Parts: sequence; C-alpha cells; structure tokens
Amino acid sequence: MNKTSNQMLVIFGASGDLTARKLIPALYNLYLGNHLPENFVVLGVSRSDLTDGEFRKKVVLESSYLSDKIDKKSEAFVKKFSDSLFYEDLGREYDTSYDRLGKRIADLNTKYGTDNNYIFYLSTPPGIYEPIAKNLYDQGLTSEQDGCKRLIVEKPFGYSLETAKNLNTGLQRYFQESQIYRIDHYLGKETVQNLLVTRFSNSIFEPLWNRNYIRHVEITNAEKVGVEKRGGYYDKSGALRDMFQNHLLQIVSLVVMEPPIGDQAEEIRNEKVKALKSLRIMKDEETLFKNTIRAQYVSSVIDGEKVNGYREEPGVDPESTTETYAALKFYVDNWRWKDVPFYVRTAKRMPTKVTEIVIHFKSPHHQIFKEGNINNKDNKLIIRIQPDEGILMKFGVKVPGQGFKVERANLDFYYSSLVETHVMEAYERLLLDAMQGDATLYARADEVEAAWEFVDPILDYWENGKDVHIYGYSAGVWGPTNADDLIDGLYMWRNPGENLADDPGFCVIS
Ligand code: BG6
Repeated sequence: MNKTSNQMLVIFGASGDLTARKLIPALYNLYLGNHLPENFVVLGVSRSDLTDGEFRKKVVLESSYLSDKIDKKSEAFVKKFSDSLFYEDLGREYDTSYDRLGKRIADLNTKYGTDNNYIFYLSTPPGIYEPIAKNLYDQGLTSEQDGCKRLIVEKPFGYSLETAKNLNTGLQRYFQESQIYRIDHYLGKETVQNLLVTRFSNSIFEPLWNRNYIRHVEITNAEKVGVEKRGGYYDKSGALRDMFQNHLLQIVSLVVMEPPIGDQAEEIRNEKVKALKSLRIMKDEETLFKNTIRAQYVSSVIDGEKVNGYREEPGVDPESTTETYAALKFYVDNWRWKDVPFYVRTAKRMPTKVTEIVIHFKSPHHQIFKEGNINNKDNKLIIRIQPDEGILMKFGVKVPGQGFKVERANLDFYYSSLVETHVMEAYERLLLDAMQGDATLYARADEVEAAWEFVDPILDYWENGKDVHIYGYSAGVWGPTNADDLIDGLYMWRNPGENLADDPGFCVIS
C-alpha cells in the first residue's frame, strides 16, 4: 500500500450536494479502510454561514448518505472522523479577501500537524475556478516549497474548446500542470480501469484488438432517470457536454489507445491523448448530418404512470432543443483502427441504467455452419462498466444432437463473485490517488482539449447547421428507432433490456 502523507483537504463549495453525497462518504470509506494519514483535516469552505458543528452534522452525523454506515459503528469511532472536519464561511463572494481563510488554514495546519500539504478541491460553479486559484496563489498557498499543493477540479472543464483552453491557461497561471487534477469519476470506476488490464495483461485479446478482427465497436451509456432537479444546469449543457465530452471519450480513449510502455501516469496519459487526437473530426455538414443523432425524451406512460417529457421538467425551457440523447458514428484515423466504425450513444430516460462496451468481432471468413440471425452470430466481447460489473464473451457452441447447429454461449466474469474484495467507489479511489500524488486517473490539459476538439464541430452543427433535427423518443424506450440507421448493414444497437413504455420510439420534434 502506498503511503499517504499528513495533509489537509480544503473543499470549496462544501455546503453543496457533491460534498455531502460523494466526497464525505468517500472520505469516510477511506477512514473505515484505514487509508487516511495519521494527521488529516478537512476544511469545508463556502458561502453558507455554518459553524464547524453544523457542518459536521450536515455532512456526517445527520447525513442521509452516511446514516447506514455510521449506525454500525461506535459513537467514539464516528466522532473521531467528524472531529477532523472544519468549516470556514467565505462571506458573500469567492473572490473576496482570502486573508481569513489563509489564517484558518495556517492555524489548522499548526494545530493538527498537516505538514503544509494541502489539496484544494473545487466543487463550485466553474466560472469561479480561476478567481479561487488566483486568491490561493496570492495567499502563497500554491507554492510547493514547504509541502505539496494540489488542485482538484470538477467537471465541466469548459463549455467548448475555447473556454476549456481559457480555463486551462487561467489555472496554469497559478498552479503548475503537474499540480492540477481534473477529476472524471468514470476513471475511478474499477471496470473502466480494468479495460487497461483486460487489454494489456492478456495475450489473447491484444492480437485481435484491431481492424483485422474487429468489425465495429459499440458503447452505450444509458440512465433510467431524467434530468431530475438539474434542469437548469442540464438545459445549458445537454448529453454531449454532460457525458460524452468527458466520461465517454475517456472510455473511447482507453479502447483505442496503443499499449503504453509502462504504467506511469504520463505514459498512460500520453497514449490517451494520441488516441483522442486520432479521432476523425467531422467537419462538413453532410458528414455531421449522416453520423450524428440528437433527441429528447417526450412524455410517456410507464406502468400506468405519466412520466414528464424533458420540456416539462423544472428549469427547462419549454421550447428547448437541448439533447437528452446523443448517438454518434465516427472513425479513428490510425493504423490499428482504419475503417472500423465506432458507435457511441448516451441518454437519459432509457429503460434501464447501463454502461457497456461491446467489441463486435468479424464473422469467420468462411462459413461452414448455419447460424441464427445476424445480430446474434458473431463473437462479442461485452465489457460491462455498470451495473453487474464484469466481462462477457459470446461465442458459438454446438447444439447437442445431430448435425452442426450453432448457438451462442456466454463465458463470463462478474466482480461480485470476488466476495472478499472491497471494490472502492469511484470518488474514494480518486481522492486517495490525489492524496498520494498519483495523477494516472485524472485528465491532463491536452487530453481535455483534444476531446473538445472532436466535440466542438458537432455542437456547432447542432446549434447552427441546416437541416438539423431534434427527434423525440418516449421516456422509457431505447431512444429514437431511427438511431439504428446509424449502424452499417443489418446490425442494430444492442439493447440490454426491454422498452418500458409501449409508445413508439420516434418522432421529429423540430
Ligand atoms: C455526471 C453527469 O457526470 O454523471 C450526470 O453530470 C450523470 O448527468 C452522471 O447522471 C452519471 O454518473 P454514473 O456514475 O451514475 O453513471
């Protein structure tokens, strides 16, 4: 186990939802697993007027996100954890004087022996990332002369290529790139990391992992929920910015990348950047028209209950054209992947929550036996990111009896079968990595910019192009049925589950 130095975690935006829902539970798990250093302090910072005691109650002692876990432990055990949490009210603005904050950090550092090692976690609206970084710099809190100083930044990293570049340059004025940790919680998922292991620690997959054996690659990210209470944010973002630019392109880069020469952060990140840079950017309207589909969920009835359409959700413009579904077909311009189509879709209000990668292998060159339908006849490697985390290989077996009838059988592995193993939650793993200075699972500036470079023209076309439709799909179905037309030949998307609503899965909204 790597050693974690004594340190202080300063969370900006500490009265927000992410702190209570994800960050503090992740820290509590680290505490349970004995991963926190001897001297460790959390300082919550935000604009709410809270005392240390009120903050502890809110995020630990009375938090619904922790109640199950803390009920099982003694009061003294829980108190020791909650006593390591402190709170500082920043007043009305994030860009006012940080003198008081600077003093509080220094006092806590001296009192609790955190050795001048600080991590600043920005969980605020992105518009104030740069002012916060500047204020920390002005307080002398970014220099690593006397201890490490790291900055963790939550998504979104920009709204477009231009804003992402500005944000990167802005942060790099006050922190070195090596101090900046851009968090993408998908990289904290065990199954996403396992992609590297599946590919590079087995000799049976890598020789087949190329255009000679793979016909196409399909990635689905589906959520059952709609936009819930986040309509205001989501309506300005949409599926492409919210999920594709970051989480899904991270997955794509791990599928596409070449073998790194080692497992060090920079080796892996260099290969991921190369992979992202090799995605063929769709430039002209015809290509964008043929290879992209955007859609929105419309109201439907599921199990006898009416479900809101996207435009009826709170905070959403009733005439919004923001997509809750995005499906793309694209190519990767390099030696390994030439002419292999990649199909990626992400959406809300689907029949179920699932994220999976399906590697579709080519059919045997010469068919000797009669097989079933086209979607069921080839070898597939299904990497299930969530739920039922695991890997499934579909291959042909002989049906017992006369002749040679072939059926598909499954060879599978599920993480849940590893009963003894504690699988860390994404935030738990990522926080621990940052605390130990390991940036492998964090996005680098050039990685984020390469992802925006691919996404920008699509967004621009959807906003300003001619003949761009937004389709409708009933809440609870697998998106608009015309999305199957994206896929070459007679193949279709692999939908892991039935539609929930009986309504048709297609209409043109505008
Ligand atoms: C977030 C998006 O980054 O990821 C949300 O902003 C989305 O809209 C969430 O619901 C999905 O994460 P997960 O881990 O539940 O797949």
